[in-house]
Amino acid sequence: PSVSVFGVPTDIGASRRGASMGPEALRVAGLVEALVARGVDARDVGDVQGPRNPMAPPSGGYRHLDEVVAWNRAVFDCSTRELQAGRLPIMLGGDHCLAIGSIAAVAAHCRAAGKRLRVLWLDAHADFNTSAITPSGNIHGMPVACLCGLGPEALTGLGGVTPAITPDQVRQIGIRSVDPGEKRLVKEYGLDIYDMRYIDEVGMRRAMEEALEGVDADTHLHVSFDVDMLDPAIAPGTGTRVPGGINYREAQLIMEMVADTGRLGSLDLVEVNPTLDKRNATAKLAVDLVESLFGKSTLMRD
Ligand code: ARG
Ligand code: MN
Ligand code: MN
Ligand code: MN
Repeated sequence: PSVSVFGVPTDIGASRRGASMGPEALRVAGLVEALVARGVDARDVGDVQGPRNPMAPPSGGYRHLDEVVAWNRAVFDCSTRELQAGRLPIMLGGDHCLAIGSIAAVAAHCRAAGKRLRVLWLDAHADFNTSAITPSGNIHGMPVACLCGLGPEALTGLGGVTPAITPDQVRQIGIRSVDPGEKRLVKEYGLDIYDMRYIDEVGMRRAMEEALEGVDADTHLHVSFDVDMLDPAIAPGTGTRVPGGINYREAQLIMEMVADTGRLGSLDLVEVNPTLDKRNATAKLAVDLVESLFGKSTLMRD
């Protein structure tokens, strides 16, 4: 499929600045060129715009709610436009709150097209907090909850249908940091979480086979890739690092197994923070992994 890459230069959902520089870091690492070199018809459609980061404390359990809504509306519109043009959107974050707009657009697109949606959430965190239980007020810790209908109306209703998705459409991989209240909530909502212990015990191959089970010709697969899923030793350029993450080979296998389904329909690439990085290593690694996601492999396979 044809690909449209767009940047969302904001860190509005975080309490640490710098993810706003993620889109440029990924461009400098050669993301679009790498796709084109693979024979993908990819173009960079530029950046979405939104309000500046006021660096304010949380109010009513949310930091920067109005600004988060404004950015996500812009993301929703841009993603919707590209999907309607029959293109595969790649959103360069920016922090992970932007997945609210991106996945709300994908969900609406799937509803209109009669497609099933499966969301693969690659992350160290479940991002299932609400204003009542968040330890930080940071909305990048809430996108999955908002998409499942838990959150402020301005975010849960962003795509016109609430909830945008249901928990059974989501599979989370790489999880190793879930806050106390969040732990109860993910259990209550039955979120399908392949945490690090599970991956250690059964291995990435089986975890991914299970996460992709039921993905068929009628499925649109959305990958929401928070680079903090990766072990901080190989991906230091991100704001909420958690030790004990996914290693290089495991990450490659995730991407290769998604590529093998042939069902990738949209991608978020978020939380790259070059101000915390070593020589743009995290953006370069992300580009390397995206190449695998688009079918790069050592040998010819059939
Ligand atoms: N659970 C923590 C919080 O809610 C961290 C969330 C980090 N999320 C992210 N997308 N990096 O504040
Ligand atoms: Mn489509
Ligand atoms: Mn995370
Ligand atoms: Mn995240």
